[in-house]
This record gives sequence, C-alpha cells and structure tokens, in this order.
Amino acid sequence: MDPRLDPELLKQGDTRNVVDRYRNWTMEAIVADLDERRHPFHVAIENFEHDANIGSVVRSANAFLAAEVHIVGNRRWNRRGAMVTDRYQHVRHHPTVEDFGAWAADAGLLVIGIDNIEGSVPIETYDIPRACVMIFGQEGPGLSPAAQDLCCEMLAISQFGSTRSINAGAAAAVAMHAWVRRHVFEQRP
Ligand SMILES: C[S@@+](CC[C@H](N)C(=O)[O-])C[C@H]1O[C@@H](n2cnc3c(N)ncnc32)[C@H](O)[C@@H]1O
Repeated sequence: MDPRLDPELLKQGDTRNVVDRYRNWTMEAIVADLDERRHPFHVAIENFEHDANIGSVVRSANAFLAAEVHIVGNRRWNRRGAMVTDRYQHVRHHPTVEDFGAWAADAGLLVIGIDNIEGSVPIETYDIPRACVMIFGQEGPGLSPAAQDLCCEMLAISQFGSTRSINAGAAAAVAMHAWVRRHVFEQRP
C-alpha cells in the first residue's frame, strides 16, 4: 500500500477539508508534500490584543502555500478561523517585534509592511520581491510603529468605499494573492 495513505481514513472515510490529491493521506505525508512546494514568501501578524483574524490569515497562508506564518506578540491565538489548516502550516511564534526583526534579518528576508498609512504605496503596482515576509497589523491599532520601523516598504491595498480599512484577514488574502499573481503567473524575472 502507498505509505502516504492512512489505513484508518481508508476504512472510515476521509471527511477532512483537503483537496482531492490528499484524500486519505496521513497528515505527515501531506505536510511533507507541501514542504516540497512551498513558496518563498512568509506572512506575519501582530498579536498583542488577541486579534481574531489570525485564524483566517493561517487558512489563507495554507491556501496560497506560504513558507511560514509568524505570530508576533502573544503565543495564544484563536484557532477557529483556521479551520484546522494550522496542522499543515508552519507557524512560528516571536514574543516581541524585536525578536521577529532579528529572525527576519537572520533569514535574509525583506520585511514588507501591509497597512494603509501615510506614505504607503499601492500594492497593485508595486513589484513585490520573491523572498519576503509581509507583516499585518491588528484590528484597532494597525501595524505598530516598532513593526513599521522594520519595513523596507509599506504597501496599501487600494480601497474605493467609505470604510477606512478592510479586516486584517481579508488584507492578508489580498496581499498573498498579489504575490501569487506576480511570482506564479507572471513570466517576468
Ligand atoms: C483593520 S486594520 C486597522 C488599521 C488601519 N490602518 C485603519 O486605519 O483602520 C488592521 C490591519 O489590516 C490590514 N489592512 C486593512 N486594510 C488595509 C488596506 N487597505 N491596505 C493594507 N492593509 C490593510 C493592515 O495590516 C492593518 O494593520
């Protein structure tokens, strides 16, 4: 039998929310397969006030196959929105913005802030680097000044309505998809 298959799932049926390619595979086999294909972008989100959007950021990171998700601040986060996708996603915790900055510098990754603050440039026309970490802020305060200081660029998602912002989970999905459009679908070097 294919060693990636899980005998229990084969017997009982696989009701997990996974694409057909992974039907009846063990969790370890799925993670190993994803690890072979992960994209070189990372995402980070600040979590000093237990932001409820983190689950959805993790789910989108799984869908768009981010290398890793970084939680900056409190270790605990609300897993509900992740819909168990966190089991297939590498999630790393950094207690402080400084710790996160040191990790990014060690990894040689450019930190790109995603927030619509003064001086941000439109993400739609910005050439997002292939290897980078995109960092998002929290619902009330947005991206902290300390995190902004780490960023080589601040990018804003263009809006046209009356609200000042979209939620961080939605912003993360838009930003990750912008990376995917640029580096998976565009042929430019
Ligand atoms: C709800 S926003 C709060 C801060 C936002 N600057 C404001 O004035 O309302 C939470 C996070 O979502 C992301 N976000 C929301 N709308 C965005 C936009 N139009 N462009 C870029 N990021 C956005 C940012 O990461 C932001 O820190």
